Amino acid sequence: MGRFGGLERLSPFRFVLSVGLVLVLVPGALGWSKEGHIMTCRIAQSLLEPEAAHAVENLLPHHVNGDLSTLCTWPDQIRHWYKYHWTSSLHFIDTPDEACTFKVSRDCHDPQGLKNMCVVGAIQNFTSQLLHYREGTADRRYNMTEALLFLSHFMGDVHQPMHVGFTSDKGGNTIDLRWFRHKSNLHHVWDREIILTALADYYDKDMDLLLQHIMTNFTDGIWYDDVSSWKDCNNLLTCSNKYATESINLACKWGYQGVKAGETLADDYFDSRMPIVMKRIAQGGVRLAMILNRAFGDSDKGEFAAAT
Ligand SMILES: *[C@@H]1O[C@H](CO)[C@@H](O)[C@H](O)[C@H]1NC(C)=O
Ligand SMILES: *[C@@H]1O[C@H](CO)[C@@H](O)[C@H](O)[C@H]1NC(C)=O
Ligand SMILES: *[C@@H]1O[C@H](CO)[C@@H](O)[C@H](O)[C@H]1NC(C)=O
Repeated sequence: MGRFGGLERLSPFRFVLSVGLVLVLVPGALGWSKEGHIMTCRIAQSLLEPEAAHAVENLLPHHVNGDLSTLCTWPDQIRHWYKYHWTSSLHFIDTPDEACTFKVSRDCHDPQGLKNMCVVGAIQNFTSQLLHYREGTADRRYNMTEALLFLSHFMGDVHQPMHVGFTSDKGGNTIDLRWFRHKSNLHHVWDREIILTALADYYDKDMDLLLQHIMTNFTDGIWYDDVSSWKDCNNLLTCSNKYATESINLACKWGYQGVKAGETLADDYFDSRMPIVMKRIAQGGVRLAMILNRAFGDSDKGEFAAAT
């Protein structure tokens, strides 16, 4: 497929930048890159109704000036600290190899088998903690600021298809390959490479511009008609089961499909997968807003009113 990004991709600047990034990046399952998490949270915050917007502002520390997205990567920063070690299995779900299904009772546990210690269990946990905030019955053991940051982060992760991947390859982390010219792995391609390549090729590395395009595509573009079904959710505490099922389906259909360790992924893979990555970021943002609006508001109506 011909694209106009080709020339830019060969530029020395671009090449140096890629090498630089490879040196800087720490391998491992970090979830959406910081760009992915920031965009998810910016979308969500822009869709908050006044009550939820107010609650979020109250919960954020002063130094971020009311900007949730600044702290949406916090759970990745602290997951290796001793105090937060228990959170490290909350970023993903391992499903049986090739099964291409998610079953909460079968798959949602940590490597030691402890129940609910997976991204879906975490979303449920932190959503239910935040529900007590409105009722004024918050359990003093729980820190509502942390609950907000964890929920916001894990709503991003559950939408990254390879975060609900196969057990033996750790969601693609052990599938080493090349992304254009540099070494990467399949998991990381979905966490970050596709987003960075899109930013470099189409958006002059301007994340705000990319974000604007994503938002235009659901406020009156290609996803406009789908948004209300994205927000369908009867039981606030179990809707993330659906998001995880979507992710493993996408991981099988688009993530793993046709990929062999050691090969080079380039234009064809990028062109066909980029729209999926953008849509998942949009869905994560819209659904995070839906959950926060319902958890902090006193009615379920008009969650999307703030979109315009
Ligand atoms: C829920 O969160 C609390 C801390 O806020 C934690 O102690 C507990 O282990 C969490 N459970 C799950 C399933 O994430
Ligand atoms: C809640 O958690 C945040 C982030 O870890 C921390 O800065 C803050 O002091 C905690 N608040 C309370 C009341 O413990
Ligand atoms: C937005 O939609 C257009 C099609 O109308 C598509 O070409 C473009 O890639 C989409 N952009 C994003 C960021 O999703």
